[in-house]
Amino acid sequence: MAPLGLHRHLLQLPLCPLQCCRFITRAAEGRRAPAPFPILRGDILPIHKHVYEANSRNSETCRHRYLELLQKVKEGGGENAILRHTQRNKKLLVRERLKMLLDDENFLELSPFAGLGLPYGDVPSAGCLSGIGKICGIWCVFIANDATVKGGTAYPISVKKQLRAQEIAMQNRLPAVYMVDSGGAFLPLQAQLFPDKEHGGRTFYNEAIMSAMKIPQVAVVCGSCTAGGAYIPTMTDEAIIVDKIGTIFLAGPPLVKAATGEEVSAEDLGGAKLHSRVSGCVDHFAAAEPEAYNRVRCIVSTLNFDPTPEEHPQEYEDPLYDTSELAGLAPRAYSLTLDAKLILSRLVDGSRFLEFKADFGTTIVTGFAYIEGNLVGIVASNGVLTHDASLKGSHFVQICNHRNIPLLFLQNTTSQDPTVTSVSQAEVLTNRLKAQASMMAAVACASVPKLTLIIGGCHGGESFAMCGRSFQPNFLFLWPNARIGLVDADSFPRSRPEGVESSEDEEEFTDLVTRLKEESSAFYSSARIWDDGVILPEDTRHVLGKCLRIIGQQKYERPAVHSSPMLRM
Ligand code: COA
Repeated sequence: MAPLGLHRHLLQLPLCPLQCCRFITRAAEGRRAPAPFPILRGDILPIHKHVYEANSRNSETCRHRYLELLQKVKEGGGENAILRHTQRNKKLLVRERLKMLLDDENFLELSPFAGLGLPYGDVPSAGCLSGIGKICGIWCVFIANDATVKGGTAYPISVKKQLRAQEIAMQNRLPAVYMVDSGGAFLPLQAQLFPDKEHGGRTFYNEAIMSAMKIPQVAVVCGSCTAGGAYIPTMTDEAIIVDKIGTIFLAGPPLVKAATGEEVSAEDLGGAKLHSRVSGCVDHFAAAEPEAYNRVRCIVSTLNFDPTPEEHPQEYEDPLYDTSELAGLAPRAYSLTLDAKLILSRLVDGSRFLEFKADFGTTIVTGFAYIEGNLVGIVASNGVLTHDASLKGSHFVQICNHRNIPLLFLQNTTSQDPTVTSVSQAEVLTNRLKAQASMMAAVACASVPKLTLIIGGCHGGESFAMCGRSFQPNFLFLWPNARIGLVDADSFPRSRPEGVESSEDEEEFTDLVTRLKEESSAFYSSARIWDDGVILPEDTRHVLGKCLRIIGQQKYERPAVHSSPMLRM
């Protein structure tokens, strides 16, 4: 039988498949004067110079690659597709649409590099933009197809991106806006899109669950909405269709002709007038795109939210140390890692940090700080996650859980050599294993929001205890220098099996290490949505601050008491 505490914990969870939670941040509460925390010393000393410079050079290369990819995704499906979209189809580009929908351009884009360099080719932005932006002061998730990428059709990676955005909406209780402009499934890959649990149908399942969780959902049909896509607007609370460019049908005119011989226009089969006047699949008719996005803004204004603290911005101190120096602290390799407190002193308000158990288990650093005015509990890797460090981590995570304080993990782990040469060494490893398992349990069961930032390596079992993706952090970001893989490619050659002798074996082994390196890059990870995006070290503080404000918004909604999904009548 589970211990009583666990039962109580489970009973407190709301009825939500993602175990989302309600919590209170002091910053959001706001206005009590906190005691100032001690200031961290973050000077980069002459002894750090060599490592600092090596990291800086690597960060510069990574930054270059980051900017290159960013430019690539901004070009969407390329020049011809853009001309087809804007001139022939007379539609706005997806980023122009977002400009009209959102209050400002200060939105958090999720996984912009998703879909690059996949086995089935490049799918810029996975064919749809997703993120979190403010509409009339309320943070909302948006999912917007980019029809310049193969008609906005859904590749497997597009489905994954949409599902992740819905998961974020559920976990953080954020309203969702769908901007649909899609030819449905990308047919050549249908087997990877239709049948399984996390395939296309899951989008509609999620819409129903989100509705039952009282998460508002609004759709704009601003292009084709074919086959499975037709359910997206039909399952939202309210849907808007744009005249002349918006269509909804399960099968388009060519299929009707093939099946019945009848010639019918897209407009007559499933255009704006038909769906707003006859079928009732949408609720609002918009004569043009700007009117549709303005209507969404009006609808969001009807959501019952109390004023959020962001409407009365609070003041906070900047770090005392230059955030541009984070580039030299972003480790190129595990062996080039400097003290985690040098990073913290450049991330947190006023470089102030209230450390917990400063002299115990020093290979992780734990303590409290504010980031852009939001109180967080920080767990930062500072070496191998030893027995003592794991116990300290578990203790601190439970403290934050009891006090309803969100957790931030700064992860930099490496794979450990499992070779054991003595009984005492085996005992040390076994004790460490038990303590790491306890920390995993503490992290998994903490019901406060969690943010994970991979600042270096993400390897081996330690990465789970440091709240890796499978431990469901609310958000997970990577620095461009991050390396993600079961084992650390840098330490791999040392553990080469003894049998590798012939030149063929040698070649195979070298190929394996090369592949491991390629597959461990931050960009490889982000292309597959193993994270929510690559962020530059100097932008980190603002991204984390924004995430904490986004997470805190749920405290200001006024949800109705009953719980049933919205059914379109
Ligand atoms: N699967 C794979 N590729 C598709 C596709 C699909 N379902 N729908 C469109 N495409 C591709 C086209 O082949 C074209 O590729 P290209 O640029 O390499 O030539 C590109 O997407 C754009 O399509 P195109 O028809 O030229 O653009 P459009 O703006 O005139 O029309 C659509 C876009 C989506 C409205 C139209 O292509 C369409 O109706 N597609 C079929 C939708 C459908 O039947 N889906 C059923 C899915 S179950």
